[in-house]
Amino acid sequence: MTPTEAVEHAIRSRRAIRGFLPDPVDPALLRHLIDLAAQAPSGTNMQPWKLRVIGPSTRTRLEAALIASLDSPDLPAAEEYRYYPETFREPYLSRRRKLGWDLYGLLGVVRGDKAGMRRQTEANLRFFDAPVALMLTIDRDLEIGSWLDLGMFLQNLLIAAQGHGLDSCPQAIFARFHPVVRRELAIPEQEIVVCGIAIGKADPSASANRLVPEREPVENFTTWLD
Ligand SMILES: Cc1cc2nc3c(=O)[nH]c(=O)nc-3n(C[C@H](O)[C@H](O)[C@H](O)COP(=O)(O)O)c2cc1C
Repeated sequence: MTPTEAVEHAIRSRRAIRGFLPDPVDPALLRHLIDLAAQAPSGTNMQPWKLRVIGPSTRTRLEAALIASLDSPDLPAAEEYRYYPETFREPYLSRRRKLGWDLYGLLGVVRGDKAGMRRQTEANLRFFDAPVALMLTIDRDLEIGSWLDLGMFLQNLLIAAQGHGLDSCPQAIFARFHPVVRRELAIPEQEIVVCGIAIGKADPSASANRLVPEREPVENFTTWLD
């Protein structure tokens, strides 16, 4: 593969993976991927990203606490940041609905199937059983520009993983559970929990991994000015 083909392949073949094999990831490779991610650009080179690699004992505690919290009346807590608009409008509403129903269709979860939805939430909170579980945070006093930088770090990490034969899923679900994540990972108040990241090898037998969300054609979102 030429370098061009390799870059294109890593970008095109990456998918949000929702079922992983238990095969471990070499810690040296993980460190290398994080170093690659940190080559992301950032405004005035602020490098605002903060990452936690969640080891086995912390992870066991975190996942147990998160799943227990599903039955707690205190959740959901107030959001620390809004990922989604309060009211979805077109064209975003249709795209979101399509993604949801395509995913739940593959999982065999029908409308109103609370147990099925709960299963998927728990799988999400278990990092879809990926061998690597990460948590991305940002200092609360930083501005929107730094959140752009964080997105570039995140994408670099996903693409670097893909280039090294590893699959991934960015997971905003953890932001909804920020009080539990903060407590279990001892994250100081000055940081906002942005998202989790699962990395590992995709489980080919997991039906959710057959999902291939489409993209809009370039012409639908690009204006060519003369
Ligand atoms: C920041 C971020 C957070 C996400 N959080 C979740 C999540 O919590 N659970 C999940 O199943 N997918 C999550 N996704 C995956 C998106 O649903 C997915 O990227 C989108 O549907 C496009 O699919 P693709 O990544 O396979 O191309 C997240 C994606 C991003 C970028």
